[in-house]
Amino acid sequence: MPDLFDKCRGDGGYFGYFRVRNDMFFSRPVLDGVPGPRMTYQGKEVVMWAVNNYLGLAGNEEVRSAARKSLEAWGTFTPMGSRMLTGNTDRHIALEKKLAAFLQKPAAALFNYGYLGVMGTISALVGPDDVIVMDRLSHASIVDGTILASAGRRFRPFKHNDLEHLEHHLKAAHRQRKGGILIVIEGVYGMRGDLADLPGICELKDRYEARLFVDDAHGFGVMGEHGRGLGEHFGVQDKIDLYFGTFAKAFAAIGGVTAGEEEVVRYIKYNARTNVFAKSLPMIYVDALEASLELIENHPEYRERMWAVAKRLQQGLTALGYDIGDTRSPITPVYVPAGSEQIAMGMIKMLREDYGVFVSGVTYPVVPREVVMFRMIPTASHSDEDVDLTVEAFKKMRDRMNLDLSEKPSLRNR
Ligand SMILES: Cc1ncc(COP(=O)(O)O)c(C=O)c1O
Repeated sequence: MPDLFDKCRGDGGYFGYFRVRNDMFFSRPVLDGVPGPRMTYQGKEVVMWAVNNYLGLAGNEEVRSAARKSLEAWGTFTPMGSRMLTGNTDRHIALEKKLAAFLQKPAAALFNYGYLGVMGTISALVGPDDVIVMDRLSHASIVDGTILASAGRRFRPFKHNDLEHLEHHLKAAHRQRKGGILIVIEGVYGMRGDLADLPGICELKDRYEARLFVDDAHGFGVMGEHGRGLGEHFGVQDKIDLYFGTFAKAFAAIGGVTAGEEEVVRYIKYNARTNVFAKSLPMIYVDALEASLELIENHPEYRERMWAVAKRLQQGLTALGYDIGDTRSPITPVYVPAGSEQIAMGMIKMLREDYGVFVSGVTYPVVPREVVMFRMIPTASHSDEDVDLTVEAFKKMRDRMNLDLSEKPSLRNR
């Protein structure tokens, strides 16, 4: 008789190979210390390249101080209940107003996690007659939002950043339309670091009278002169119908925000199940986020430093022959030569154990099956010395492992 738990004993499921080995090296490694450029792993200091602390705000004293005061005043529990019932406060409303102003949108809605925000926003808006046209490389929260919207049958994935393929779907969806069309993309793609072709996508959106949702988890606070994200970077912020950012990355906190026109955001607040049926964001985060937003708005030097570190790292790796694909953001993917998971694991192990450089591997289901890579996140808090030591480690690794870097695996992975 098959039992529900049979699957738990085999090596199926996500990361099954690692799970059955009870691995805590490649999956679920235990890290010590406050997230930053240097952390402790297995009792040794490592240079950390695997946390999305883009602006170096993790551990920032002003944010900590705001959180400390908030903790004194409100404890860990305030407010109690969902925004709909007993969890709404003036401070939540004020933060939404500030975020909306920062993002140059009329209104904004807070969510407790980015994941819940993306899922909640998409599923609140997309009904049985509507169609989702989504970039194929989109994050799991977008896929799950689509499933929650029960739009499985009316869901059209297009090849990553391929405007021709997008137009093909838009044309068909427009011709057969009974309801609305929502184009869903990431802004900065979280694994490859490449950018959505926003100007082109906005033009198509207008042509086919669709709406555009941009999950800019990795561009929020990072891209554009003021950190308003990819819309600002390309000068098309006003064309984005719904802009989404998470606080888990550049803001070094937790939560997410959807910004857009007033009535639409109000509709989302009343209909996003992940918001209506969940406790509201704790005050300690609301207060910390206000402090982070203040810093992000008024300190362009964090972004400048982050770009300087990213440039130094990306140039160093490229000069050694490593393939970092077509990143246009701080995210630095390193595609593994010969495309083998075994080689990638050997590289990660050597970097961590022999050179004190911590990187994370990225495999299916986070990226498509044929892609083998690891991903590095340069941040404003890394020093030049951190970068140089890392590039030197990559040089030694290349020579010791005799890596053939003539191949360009990122091209194969298109
Ligand atoms: C593109 C994208 N969207 C959404 C999320 C989810 O955000 P959070 O971690 O705040 O739940 C992430 C985080 O990994 C992401 O990269």
